[in-house]
Amino acid sequence: MSSPFTSEHVAEWASFGPKLKGKPTPEQQLAAQERKEKCTAMKTRLAKELNDPTWTEKKIEKELDRLVEEGVKEEDSARPEYLDGPSGTRDFYPPEMKVQNWLFDNFRESAKAFGFQEYDAPVLEHVKLYERKAGEEIVDQMYNFVDKDGKHVTLRPEMTPTLARMVLNKTNLQTGEVRLTLPLKWFSIPQCWRFETTQRGRKREHYQWNMDIVGVDHVHAELELLAAACFFFRRIGIGSDLVGIKVNSRAVLEAVLSKHGIEKGDKDADGGDIFAKACVIIDKLDKIGGPAVTELLGEIGVSAESSADILKALEAPDVEALTEHIGEESEAILQVKRLFELAKDYGIDDYLKFDASVVRGLAYYTGVVWEAFDRRGELRAIMGGGRYDRLLELYGGDKCTIPCVGFGFGDCVIMELLRDCGKIPEFQGTGVDYVVCAFSPDLYGAAANISSKLRACGWSVDLMPTPKKKVAASFKHADQAGARRMVFVAPDEIEKGLVRVKDLRLKDKDSEAIQVDCPLDEIHTLDELIANAAAN
Ligand code: HAM
Repeated sequence: MSSPFTSEHVAEWASFGPKLKGKPTPEQQLAAQERKEKCTAMKTRLAKELNDPTWTEKKIEKELDRLVEEGVKEEDSARPEYLDGPSGTRDFYPPEMKVQNWLFDNFRESAKAFGFQEYDAPVLEHVKLYERKAGEEIVDQMYNFVDKDGKHVTLRPEMTPTLARMVLNKTNLQTGEVRLTLPLKWFSIPQCWRFETTQRGRKREHYQWNMDIVGVDHVHAELELLAAACFFFRRIGIGSDLVGIKVNSRAVLEAVLSKHGIEKGDKDADGGDIFAKACVIIDKLDKIGGPAVTELLGEIGVSAESSADILKALEAPDVEALTEHIGEESEAILQVKRLFELAKDYGIDDYLKFDASVVRGLAYYTGVVWEAFDRRGELRAIMGGGRYDRLLELYGGDKCTIPCVGFGFGDCVIMELLRDCGKIPEFQGTGVDYVVCAFSPDLYGAAANISSKLRACGWSVDLMPTPKKKVAASFKHADQAGARRMVFVAPDEIEKGLVRVKDLRLKDKDSEAIQVDCPLDEIHTLDELIANAAAN
């Protein structure tokens, strides 16, 4: 089909903007209506010009849409690659940033509700902190390099080693005495970098809400952390019908391995900790299957017979079955039982579920471990954590046996879940208090002066950079911004030492927007003036 339309026609059609997909927000409705009107006018005009009954308005629209799309594709192929961010990274445009801030506010408020204090550290860390020789994926995924001082550094793949470093910097390594009041309850929302295969909920950079308790060696710390995570879930409208938290203890697995002669602290030929290595291997069970796990366990000296027994233990449906499998009610089992009992008092037992197969893929965990999952089973882990009582000792030496427990909660998977459930709140406009517009360039100074006065009173002000004669354009801008009030700086009022302010939310008895003329030196009384006008 040869097209009767020129590049000018296509450019004109494209200038109306793309067709809106889905239900428009009230903010978008105005723009959608405007687009529709422009499109209709152009179609009618072109149908008249073509004067050909085969070119109906519908056909004209279809053809113009096609030509615009073709143009976009051509334009895309000409776009330099560097305009897209590196693979697996995200840009946050203002609408996405609003949602991200909402999520972070909920992380922060939940942490504060449980008495946690915020900390932070640089994204660049020493590679050494992550070299744990246990075959963890995270070590191969580092964004590491040698800096200009010849130092081996990396973008942090996780926050826990940084937290350990920060605590050890306040610890006497000779005596193990921590110069901070324990327990520490700290939280952070760092950006972490992992060179992973990107997929739904997994990126190469992500933000991770970290909550850690340092200095408590019993399950009350685990419970506070689990309760804080559940508090957050409830706060954002994610009930226990949508997510659950699988809980286990590596100490239980330790008991299983001990049955087979592998004791805590045993090293393999490379000097690596066998127990930690075994956990990292077992964590891969879902991905690589039983036979591959058995083979890998064999490489670190675990016999096929022991592997079979370990894999069987991981299938235990509940704590009782696992106790039976181990043959005794060990301290680790008692701790898990206590955790589930107390979870009822906390009112979070609906979220928790015992799962003997959860061991986690990081080498440093020593006790209770957990992972949050979506109950439909479609997404990757939402959050993961556990007890790591020996990490500080690893970095700081024998005296630094300081018990720690915590979790990391990524921002990606939870957003996927919220999106799927339609639970992301809608944020409209900029939420600015005032939009101020000058009628003409000579009044821009007066508009700037009024804006300064309004800001000094504590209001937020969006001063329109380009003066506009048409009040309608300024109102449209104020409407899109979701502003409360509009100030139009016009010559007639300014000559009288006044400024006209319209309240865009309050209406008078005739359903007209409240409008007042405020003396320029009484800007601070605007609230009162408008309230009085609304009352009359
Ligand atoms: P992790 O399981 O490696 O644990 O990560 C914790 C959470 O971070 C995951 O459950 C997921 O929500 C998120 N996450 C991890 N990698 C990615 C990725 N590539 N893209 C998006 N999200 C991701 C840790 O990092 C431990 N340091 C957590 C911890 C804190 N344990 C004790 N304290």
